[in-house]
Amino acid sequence: MQNIPINNKIIDSKLEAFNITDMDKASIREVVEIVNQIQDETGVKFIRMEMGVPGLPPAKVGVDAEIEALKNGVASVYPNINGIPEVKKEAARFVKNFMNIEVKPECCVPSSGSMQGTYSVFQVASSCDKQKDTALFIDPGFPVQKQQFMVMGHKFESFDVYNYRGEKLREKLESYLEKGNINSIIYSNPNNPTWVCFTENELQIIGELANKYDVIVMEDLAYFGMDFRKDLSKPGQAPYQPSVANYTDNYVLFISASKIFSYAGQRIAVIIMSDKVYHRNYPELENRYKIKGFGNAVIYRVLYALSSGVSHSAQHAMAAMLKAANDGTFNFVNEVKEYGEKAQIMKGLFTKNGFTILYDKDEGEPIGDGFYFTLAYPGMKAGELLHRMLFYGISAITLSSTGSTKEGLRACVSAVNRNQMNDLKERLEAFNKAYPTT
Ligand SMILES: Cc1ncc(COP(=O)(O)O)c(C=O)c1O
Repeated sequence: MQNIPINNKIIDSKLEAFNITDMDKASIREVVEIVNQIQDETGVKFIRMEMGVPGLPPAKVGVDAEIEALKNGVASVYPNINGIPEVKKEAARFVKNFMNIEVKPECCVPSSGSMQGTYSVFQVASSCDKQKDTALFIDPGFPVQKQQFMVMGHKFESFDVYNYRGEKLREKLESYLEKGNINSIIYSNPNNPTWVCFTENELQIIGELANKYDVIVMEDLAYFGMDFRKDLSKPGQAPYQPSVANYTDNYVLFISASKIFSYAGQRIAVIIMSDKVYHRNYPELENRYKIKGFGNAVIYRVLYALSSGVSHSAQHAMAAMLKAANDGTFNFVNEVKEYGEKAQIMKGLFTKNGFTILYDKDEGEPIGDGFYFTLAYPGMKAGELLHRMLFYGISAITLSSTGSTKEGLRACVSAVNRNQMNDLKERLEAFNKAYPTT
């Protein structure tokens, strides 16, 4: 506990250097840099909860397959733009094994991370119908996807789901959809930043409305299988990863290797389009892209224009990781359970010291323990809370950039070491003593 709380002159001089008067306005990259500098100057090792990076080694089966592919010479060969056959086949198997959803290998297309996948699909979905020129985000959400809309120059709307769980979601969604301008509904499940997971009831509502209003649901499964309240790890056996795909054929799923296989550095994910979406023709799309079919526009127009496909060796890695999961020789869920275990400990320490979990329930059931959780502290706004936590060697990000309307923080467990839990406990006790809640 030496040097804690950190001298406020040190922290405030850093904030001044970054021109930050309110931590609520600081970007994630700014928080990272400020904390790096405070650590360097004070020697205090922070409890770093700001970045959503994998905290585990990459899946070995992927690394081995990638090395092997490179040795076999794939680096000199342009990969197939719509994906190597192995990755397409194993992705379709994966969706069947872990979601119990039938998709065709043809409709499974690798992208350079989900980031490129969502960019490509948002671009096409925004160009299908002039009347439907707006996407709808169910927030809180992953801020970079909004940045993608900013870059593309397409429109979006959003709302914070906090007050609209369960049946209330139907009315709220319909209030947007009935205007007739919405082309897609976008969310992540489990959710970054809150870790809420939609219930079957909520997924059914979304699916039914997607059918009724003919919109495409974009389900971002970056944290596939990581709702550890259920064991989603057994191929071909229930329970399965919940999905809107059980309730509508108007879906596109994004399965990223970054978190589930700790493979973020190699930038690989798979876009899964339903057969209906993949083959659907939209006259306006054809006018613009001179090609028939949603899937073809994604692959042969946007992905081709962006990067001419995905790194060849990374596709071999993805194929191998999916295959090992499908064959039951690699339990990817067990590999990442560490996040849930750390979250349980950390949430316990925070709540014992005056904090509350802000987004705490899925239709009455406590949320699971996973990669992220959200925090609030009585009487403190988000920017003030983060600022004060820095004095105690703890960093996170505020929720304002995620579309949340609540005053609170997102905490990510991945970069926190098990051996830091005692430091966290002592720092939180000191924080609570300095700012008593009762
Ligand atoms: C919800 C969500 N979607 C997408 C991504 C990015 O995935 P990828 O690394 O595959 O681009 C992240 C990463 O943090 C995420 O949290």
